[in-house]
Amino acid sequence: MKLNDLEKAMLEGDRGPATRKAMEILVQLGDIYGAERMVPIRNAHMPGASVVVTGKAGARFIDDVAGQGGRFTVPTMLNPAACDLRDGEQSDFDPALVALQRTMTASYESMGGIACHTCIPYFLGHAPLAGEHVAWGESSAIAYCNSVLGARTNREGGPSALAAALAGRVPLYGYHLDENRRPTMVVDVRVPIEDVVDYGTLGYFVGKQSVNAVPAFVGLPSAHADGLKMMSAALASSGAVALFHVAGVTPESPSEAELKAAGLPRVSYGVDEARETAALLDGAETADVDFVVLGCPHASVLEIRECAELLNGRRVHADVVMWLAMPLPFVALAERAGWARVIREAGVRIITDTCPVLGAFGPLRERLPHGVLATNSAKLAHYAPGKFGASVHYGDAASCVAAATTGRWQGGA
Ligand code: F3S
Repeated sequence: MKLNDLEKAMLEGDRGPATRKAMEILVQLGDIYGAERMVPIRNAHMPGASVVVTGKAGARFIDDVAGQGGRFTVPTMLNPAACDLRDGEQSDFDPALVALQRTMTASYESMGGIACHTCIPYFLGHAPLAGEHVAWGESSAIAYCNSVLGARTNREGGPSALAAALAGRVPLYGYHLDENRRPTMVVDVRVPIEDVVDYGTLGYFVGKQSVNAVPAFVGLPSAHADGLKMMSAALASSGAVALFHVAGVTPESPSEAELKAAGLPRVSYGVDEARETAALLDGAETADVDFVVLGCPHASVLEIRECAELLNGRRVHADVVMWLAMPLPFVALAERAGWARVIREAGVRIITDTCPVLGAFGPLRERLPHGVLATNSAKLAHYAPGKFGASVHYGDAASCVAAATTGRWQGGA
């Protein structure tokens, strides 16, 4: 791989041992994937931000990198942590784990990391422009970044995202190159896609059809950001999809005529496919519900408001636990708007900094007498059986709130 003078100097240690190690990792990656050169990045999003993922050894490694003088050279945000880091919000968490998480977060911050601890950094101003190169981890955010923002990232893991943030560059391969960003299949959407849960079901269906594909969706004329957030998470869960095209949304999306001329394989998504996919995700056999989770990916402002409207004047059933997960800055907004009061008075716990999958909530299964979780997230429905040993009811936010307040699943929309 060709390196410029600055890159050679970093590799020789001119910027200290942490940056030298980062460059060694990036050069190795570039050699493995046949990159000809490096490309500067606009920003990074760090996936290894939960000590549940990194373990003690990973947390020590981050501490060492910070101790060696490692400093991020581009804006870098952190993915969800293992626990809620607000004072007084740690009742569910092992104190030793909270201490370890606080230390790792502080190490990231000392390198310049922004401790938003969210999987939707793009709703917090961490939104690169179309065509810009970035280094992002977190599968749902990667798909959104490539497909909705039109920026360019590979699927970065913890070490490669860390190296990229330190060196401010990545090797030029994979989704950074035009030739790997073209659609490989077309999805004809023949059913109305309106609620965010519709987007998640569609994404889950398409991911199951073809792993690692670059699907192009036609028939989504009024796609909205919250729906595409949910679809990104679902596509990444069922099919490891890192990039998709939606006509009128994805900046580089070919026209329908160009897609037709390319003669790509086509998949149709109609009423039957939507019903079958929702049934696949809605696998619980009992109507009793123990645990309801909204906010995977973390809830947007509009989703928080919708949740408050659905809960207004209602109360979560005594045998049910309900969580709403959101980015920390949105908690402040929810407080000001009065939504947080409505949500809390209904008995719902507002979770921030963490999430059900990356959080260290302990043996949750033991606290679910019926072993049933309800959610509007296809991603969480996909992971809940493995993570919690729970079976799942899957439907829109209104169905989930109805289940939370009655303790019974009454069918999802
Ligand atoms: Fe985000 Fe956690 Fe869901 S990282 S997409 S809330 S599993």
